[in-house]
Amino acid sequence: MKFKPSCSKSALIFGGTAIWGLFLVGCVMVDRTVIAPPSVPGATFVGSAKCSQCHEEVTSKFHDATHAKLMAKGGNAQDIGCESCHGPGSLHAKAGGGRDNIVNPNSSPETCFQCHLDKRGEFSLPNAHPVLAGKMSCSDCHEPHKGDAVMENSGSIDGLNATCTKCHVQQAGPYVFEHEASREGCVVCHNPHGSINAKMLKARNQNLCLQCHFQQQTAPGVILIGGRDHASFLSRGTCWSAGCHESVHGSHVSSSLRF
Ligand code: HEC
Ligand code: HEC
Ligand code: HEC
Ligand code: HEC
Ligand code: HEC
Ligand code: HEC
Ligand code: HEC
Repeated sequence: MKFKPSCSKSALIFGGTAIWGLFLVGCVMVDRTVIAPPSVPGATFVGSAKCSQCHEEVTSKFHDATHAKLMAKGGNAQDIGCESCHGPGSLHAKAGGGRDNIVNPNSSPETCFQCHLDKRGEFSLPNAHPVLAGKMSCSDCHEPHKGDAVMENSGSIDGLNATCTKCHVQQAGPYVFEHEASREGCVVCHNPHGSINAKMLKARNQNLCLQCHFQQQTAPGVILIGGRDHASFLSRGTCWSAGCHESVHGSHVSSSLRF
């Protein structure tokens, strides 16, 4: 996605009806095209205040959510935040609840793709989390209702990786020999949505590691990494294959993460 910084009201244009001009207020980065809000046949927008009558536990925490900055203008659409993901709620509210008369984005990423157009492409890459296959949802890693939508951004080092390690328990450690790279988050090496590279890696060769471990050419034919000549090693494969640093997340036996 391309972001353009802007500190003014920026219109997000819906292809659908005119009342659906969404406005983002404040100093945010926006450059998105919104195709259409989710729709519910026969229903109209009622505004978030209506939802709070029955969903207080959600609405009371929504004020600091990333998506609470979304606001719509026109008619009765003041602070329409909830319905930008759940669709128009008049029939649902009138019926006092129900499942068929409201959109639940947990069952399909389509709602999210409407505004985050580029994400469909990322999840279509050959190595991706199985969101398009319906085995995972965006909200496994993103919090729609409170605080930062990117959960990694809030909290400690443990919090940083907790988004991932709740499923990938093995990579959480603790290890006798920890690889300090993980302190900067799993996403220094993995693209969380998808990648053309195996295991969703950001790079398929040593460039992944050379982000942090500098390569020094001290003499012709000598390549120093971590103080050791790697010239003959680099031709054998990736840093994490060919019997080199196979325990890239951390090791119980080898300080150089060999196994
Ligand atoms: C960014 C999109 C988004 C916005 C905005 C949003 N929601 Fe949700 N909502 C979701 C997703 C995704 C789920 C399913 C995952 C979950 O339960 O966290 C969900 C689930 C729900 C549920 C069902 C929870 C359950 O336990 O089954 C309710 C009720 C709900 N939302 C109400 C609201 C209300 C009220 C608002 C406005 C204050 C709101 N939502 C704003 C995306 C959103
Ligand atoms: C009059 C009470 C009432 C109002 C108003 C109301 N809801 Fe609900 N809502 C419910 C009840 C009850 C359920 C549980 C339905 C069930 O499990 O069958 C529910 C369920 C939901 C769900 C989960 C549906 C699912 O697939 O599990 C979502 C999402 C939701 N509401 C969003 C909203 C939004 C957004 C608004 C405001 C536009 C809203 N609700 C207004 C009573 C209400
Ligand atoms: C109506 C349009 C709209 C819908 C629907 C929507 N988003 Fe967003 N989303 C936005 C906008 C606009 C921002 C940027 C807000 C900001 O920067 O303050 C945003 C921000 C985000 C961010 C944080 C981006 C960052 O750089 O910090 C995440 C993550 C996110 N959305 C995920 C989702 C998920 C998951 C869903 C579906 C449950 C969803 N969004 C549905 C419009 C939408
Ligand atoms: C496996 C976990 C995971 C899933 C599933 C996931 N995300 Fe993300 N997403 C992340 C992480 C982690 C980041 C932060 C990336 C970073 O800091 O480099 C992120 C960043 C984002 C951002 C902001 C930065 C950017 O790339 O634009 C948006 C928007 C977003 N995700 C939307 C979505 C949507 C929409 C879905 C579902 C279609 C989704 N994500 C599913 C983990 C996930
Ligand atoms: C809700 C559970 C869940 C969460 C959260 C999650 N993943 Fe995954 N992850 C999966 C599933 C399911 C697969 C697919 C496994 C398969 O296809 O066999 C997967 C696959 C992977 C793979 C590829 C594994 C392989 O053998 O090819 C990597 C790497 C990965 N995830 C990293 C991450 C990172 C990094 C995060 C955090 C941003 C994360 N995951 C969050 C469930 C999750
Ligand atoms: C220093 C870079 C780096 C960091 C940081 C990193 N990974 Fe990995 N990860 C890799 C590499 C390289 C592979 C491929 C290993 C292979 O193919 O043998 C991999 C593979 C994986 C796999 C597939 C299973 C496996 O072991 O082959 C999962 C799941 C995974 N990583 C999850 C995570 C999680 C979760 C985090 C954060 C706690 C994380 N990774 C942090 C580099 C990293
Ligand atoms: C985000 C930065 C970062 C990335 C990316 C990274 N590392 Fe590291 N790595 C570190 C830090 C910090 C240390 C601990 C200090 C040191 O020894 O340089 C470390 C230590 C190591 C060590 C132990 C060195 C020793 O003998 O004490 C090995 C081996 C290693 N990394 C291999 C790799 C491999 C292989 C990759 C690529 C898959 C990689 N690193 C990617 C930051 C990183």
